[in-house]
Parts: sequence; structure tokens; C-alpha cells
Amino acid sequence: MKHFLKLTDYSTEEIIAFLDLADRLKAEQKQGVAHPVLAGKTLGMIFQKSSTRTRVSFEVGMSQLGGHALFLSGRDLQLGRGEPIKDTARVLSRYVDGIMIRTFAQQDVEDLAKYGSVPVINGLTDYAHPCQVLADLMTIREHKGKLAGLKLCFVGAGNNMANSLIAGCVKVGMNISVACPKGYEPDAKLVAWGMESGLLIVGQDVLEAAGDADILYTDVWASMGEEAEAEERAKAFQNYQVNGAVMAAAKPDAMVLHCLPAHRGEEITDDVFEAHAADIFDEAENRLHAQKAIMVKLLK
Ligand code: CP
Ligand code: NVA
Repeated sequence: MKHFLKLTDYSTEEIIAFLDLADRLKAEQKQGVAHPVLAGKTLGMIFQKSSTRTRVSFEVGMSQLGGHALFLSGRDLQLGRGEPIKDTARVLSRYVDGIMIRTFAQQDVEDLAKYGSVPVINGLTDYAHPCQVLADLMTIREHKGKLAGLKLCFVGAGNNMANSLIAGCVKVGMNISVACPKGYEPDAKLVAWGMESGLLIVGQDVLEAAGDADILYTDVWASMGEEAEAEERAKAFQNYQVNGAVMAAAKPDAMVLHCLPAHRGEEITDDVFEAHAADIFDEAENRLHAQKAIMVKLLK
């Protein structure tokens, strides 16, 4: 049984196959061609953190595929009162055909997959956000016509987004440069793996990292769960912003992506955000299509 826990679990060919299916499902939906291929199936969606895009796109996506999605708030489940993840996994597996989970520890997602008997999808952990990066790659390929050989520059915290972008870019043969303050680097193991490919560079200089980039990507300075560090992070990250100067270092036709939600005036200026809003909201839309592809591949 296949799960969708992190992109490094997948081969290049498998990632491209997800993207090809996502493109097809998007084209069908735009043409009004129904594809109820998951009729009768139920997806359980556990959320231990907030969400706008992930929740809505999974729920709408499941409905477009003819199935049903069940929103399970971490606050209301017995999980929130200490019922172990391995018991939750075994119980939910008796009712639903797949589980999407957004939580803190990556280990919880891995345990859910280990103890459950249905496919598990990672809807964001502190370590990874693979669904987002699948939508990002889909958006880049749509706009640039290819993936391999392009350069993406990530500016900001070495967080779940930076980690999954490293995994996704390296898998599809894209160069990726990460600019982050000292002490806020992405996952060390993943960095070592990325460096081995020759496609990843991690440094502290934003303008150097942005040089000749085809895509500029950023994310919030303080992620969900890091609220207590927000002030300290705001100081550490004050020079880590996608602004006019950074855009000038990149290729003239560089696109700007942001997983959202965005904090204007922090990791991105309002003018850069609005100038590239078309890219950013295409990216948000593609969450729907990319996740439909994941659900079809895992649950059908
Ligand atoms: N990008 C993303 O995952 O958005 P949500 O937190 O709104 O789901
Ligand atoms: N890094 C952010 C991404 C939100 C989609 C967070 O984890 O809060």
C-alpha cells in the first residue's frame, strides 16, 4: 500500500506521473467532464493545526471525485485527550478508505501509516508539506513548460516548505538555492542529500541565492506552532524578504510563488505579492488538482 508522507519516498517518474494526472484532472474539470472515480469512498481528514487551502481543496476535491471527506478536528477527536495515534490509526482504518492528517511531528504521520491499514496523506507537519510542493511543481511546469534545469530560490526559514521544496526540486532535476539566517537551516539530513545531487546550495546571502532564479519562493518567518518565537524570528529574518531588489537579481521573467498564508511586509512586500498574484493564486488553485491526483492514485 502506498502512502503520501514525504516526496523523498517517491521516484522522479512517480512524481511526474502525479503531475500528469493532476494536469488531466484539471483539464477535465475545466471542460465540465465529471470524473467520479472515488464514488463510495471516504477520506478522513485530521487537523491538529489551522487550514484554509488544505481543508477546502481536499474536501472539494473528494466531492468532485464522487467521494466523501470527513473533517476531524484534533480538538474534538479523542486524540486531543491523549488517545494514542496508533489506536486512532487502527480505529479510523475500520471506517474510512484513506486518512489525510495535518499535525506537528512527522513521526505521528509515519505512525499513522504504520499502524493503520489505509493510505495516509501528509497534509503538513513541522518537517514537510509534500502536497503543497506537488501543486508548486504543477504550477511551475504549467508556466515554464518544463521543470528540469530551472532554478528555484527559497528565501526564509528552513522549515517544512524549504524541506519539501528541496526534496521536490532535486527529484525533478531543478536547481534550488536556499537563503536563510544562520541557525535556521533546513533539515540537516535533507540538506546533505540535496548537496550530493549537486542541485542544492544553502547560504545566507539572499541576493546571491536569487541570482538568475526562474522562481522565487518564500514562506512565513514563524510557522504554525512557532508563535512563541515570532518576535525573535522577526529580528533574525528582517533581511530575508522577497522585495524589488531581490526580484532585480532574478531572471526578468521570474515567477513568484508563496504557499500562503502570506504576511505582507515581512517575508514578501505587498507590491511584489500583488505583481505576481496571478502565479500565486494559480498555485493555490492547483492544490485542488494535485491532491485529486494523490487521492486517485492512493484510493482508487
Ligand atoms: N498552503 C497551505 O497549506 O494553506 P493552509 O494552511 O490554508 O491549508
Ligand atoms: N510553514 C508554514 C506553512 C503553512 C502552509 C507553516 O507550517 O505554518
